[in-house]
Amino acid sequence: MREIPVLLCRAPHQGAQVPSTLSPRHTTNAPSRRWRDRLLTRVDERIEQFLATERQRWAAFDPDSVEVLDCVVGMFGSGGKRLRPAFCIAGYLAAGGDPDDPAIVDVAAALELLHSFALLHDDVMDASERRRNRPTAHVLHEELHGQRGWRGEGRRYGEAVAVLGGDLALVYAERLLADCPPGVRRIWGELCTELVVGQFLDLRSAAQFEADPERARCIALLKSGHYTVSRPLTLGAALAGEERLLAPFEEYGMAVGEAFQLRDDLLDFFGDAVLTGKPGQLDLQQHKMTLLMSLALRDQPVVQALFAGDGTTPDPDVLRHLLNATGVRDRVEEVIEERVIAAGRAIDGTLTPEWVAEFLAMANEAAYRNG
Ligand code: IPE
Ligand code: IPE
Ligand code: MG
Ligand code: MG
Ligand code: MG
Repeated sequence: MREIPVLLCRAPHQGAQVPSTLSPRHTTNAPSRRWRDRLLTRVDERIEQFLATERQRWAAFDPDSVEVLDCVVGMFGSGGKRLRPAFCIAGYLAAGGDPDDPAIVDVAAALELLHSFALLHDDVMDASERRRNRPTAHVLHEELHGQRGWRGEGRRYGEAVAVLGGDLALVYAERLLADCPPGVRRIWGELCTELVVGQFLDLRSAAQFEADPERARCIALLKSGHYTVSRPLTLGAALAGEERLLAPFEEYGMAVGEAFQLRDDLLDFFGDAVLTGKPGQLDLQQHKMTLLMSLALRDQPVVQALFAGDGTTPDPDVLRHLLNATGVRDRVEEVIEERVIAAGRAIDGTLTPEWVAEFLAMANEAAYRNG
């Protein structure tokens, strides 16, 4: 197998790093990136149109009912990186799919709506107050409950509305997939199951609080890596009818998907909350057993001592210092780097050189980002 180029010029802890040979700017003007972005624009338009029609229909039926629909409108409209549709479209186009087939727009749009569902529920489960620099849906509806002087428990009301908003986003994703081929439907079913089981294991391991780095890596992949990268890519290949690419896409996607989530975990701890749009150190508050935390707890007596007391959350600044000083943060960076290199190997020789370059750039953008 041909040697892959050296991709990374990473200095320790300098935030988002770009590959030395393939900076995002390098690929922005490549035709592959332009095709991908053109379809991404169509995906946004499709979702906007779909939600506007739904909103109109429900507003005519009962104006109050649109409040739950607006959880979806608000989440979709608040931005985000659109990574899932981007990987799906890239997989489809690299596999020779027809860019004019509306089916790819619907599948990619369904992935973004599924992401809205996942985020609405995730923010309730993680008790998060901010998403994309806005108050989360459950916080917003708890506040509305208070402002209106309504009866019952405001927190329960807010969380229930956000859960229903998430449900609606999932129903809409399913509706967009109504006509998709059985092969696509099978991957979709797998992806949804992985996400739900992964989210459960994430909560369970936080409650159990036992350091198990291998398990933490598995959870990162299940709750996030699969639905963010590997399954969108294989959905794209399946829709294009290119079975040959399923295995390399899965291997590349699992590597990039894990790197994506490990970066998310690092950003939670060390990132800039304005750039992530989410509260900092929430994983610590929620005692999430991420790879970062499980390596620290398993290998570093000084960190074990910090958690040995009465169960109160340690000072984030102290823990941050220890994670740096003990090299645990570097260890997670090394895993990310190894995953990005493995991703490059997985697609080496399987696609045209231009698509290989595009996939390498996308891997680096997902793994070395600051928001
Ligand atoms: C956040 O995903 C949730 C995770 C799976 C970690 P993103 O980082 O892709 O969020 P947006 O869509 O860009 O806001
Ligand atoms: C969320 O993981 C995964 C899903 C949304 C399914 P996190 O809980 O780490 O995501 P953030 O950090 O809240 O975006
Ligand atoms: Mg969360
Ligand atoms: Mg979570
Ligand atoms: Mg996170």
